[in-house]
Amino acid sequence: MKKFVYMDASASWLKNQSVIDAEVDFLANSYANAGRGICARAGLVDKKIMDARKTVAEFINAEPNQIIFTSGATDGLNRVVNILTSQPWYREMSTFAVSDLDHHSARLPWENLLHEGKIRQEFVCELDEDFNIKTDSIPNVDFLIITAMSNVLGNKQNVKEIVRVAREKNPNVITIVDAAQYVAHEKIDVKDWNCDFLCFSGHKIGADTGVGVLYIRDADKYYPEKFGGGMVSKVISGEESRWILYSSPEKFEAGTLPLTQIIGLETAIKELKNWNGGKDLTNYIYQELSKINSVKLLTKPDSPIISFVIDGMHVLDFGVLVGAHDICVRVGNMCASWIHKKLNIDGSIRISVGPWNTMDDAEYVIETIKGIVK
Ligand SMILES: Cc1ncc(COP(=O)(O)O)c(C=O)c1O
Repeated sequence: MKKFVYMDASASWLKNQSVIDAEVDFLANSYANAGRGICARAGLVDKKIMDARKTVAEFINAEPNQIIFTSGATDGLNRVVNILTSQPWYREMSTFAVSDLDHHSARLPWENLLHEGKIRQEFVCELDEDFNIKTDSIPNVDFLIITAMSNVLGNKQNVKEIVRVAREKNPNVITIVDAAQYVAHEKIDVKDWNCDFLCFSGHKIGADTGVGVLYIRDADKYYPEKFGGGMVSKVISGEESRWILYSSPEKFEAGTLPLTQIIGLETAIKELKNWNGGKDLTNYIYQELSKINSVKLLTKPDSPIISFVIDGMHVLDFGVLVGAHDICVRVGNMCASWIHKKLNIDGSIRISVGPWNTMDDAEYVIETIKGIVK
């Protein structure tokens, strides 16, 4: 049988059987809505969701009431903008800073505010020769967006130090961390980092699509930006009805949650602890690619992902050729246009391994690439 090799973990993970089993078991045997019913089965679902929330909280060293379930990193990053701009203290005279490491989902929501005239100015933090944020270039701004790990270069940022320096410049700065790539490879410690918001997606660590996590440090301080069922403890009627909101997380989770996916996320997080990070395979592929003259590596040897370009070959052509050998890797601009602009290239090729990959897969990928570039 023809081999199919999936090495696009950074785009989305293949699902471990235990995640599939957990979701199927929930759907088949315990399904009910959460936060609404009072029958025993609904109570059991409430407990399962609470347990999943605790698992997520422990995973990033947060408290359960700081964990808001979203539909993914993009949803979380957009919700942060909507939450912040909905606060009574928000001023359109505010400023924000980004960096060229950002994914579109971290930066576009802020730039959109700029285009709509709802924020005053954007600053771009400088990168050093290793493409890490230069802390001395962090401006005095109201909001700072930090991409904890680039999805193109795989370099991790010293988030703790960046947050510290940003607070030196402005003690009231609000820091927003995009951990969509970091979460699969490095331990997140939100208490140590002391960031205000952090987002990631479940599907990039083996959970299903449709579930993500938004961490809010001072969750009780913010008024929600999204309204619906499950968030209000009491409606007070009068001429104008008023409501008493539940505290966090309920006040940020209007509507029915992606329950099945949350159950899968809990299992995926437990599974992630059993993975060695695929360093042996990544290292092998990196070393072999570095021996091919026409391959120009963009990532460093210690990066958990490998990005490169090939002299004289468009990345999309490479994608088609390698795809014809049933190899799935990512080619294009990776929704990270700014870093490609900075590197002066249109796009790149990215190989990212997951727990399902074997050395046999790695050898097959290298052998195929050698055949394509020869
Ligand atoms: C760094 C980074 N941020 C955000 C996202 C958006 O994640 P999602 O599409 O799961 O919302 C991605 C996805 O590739 C990413 O790599």
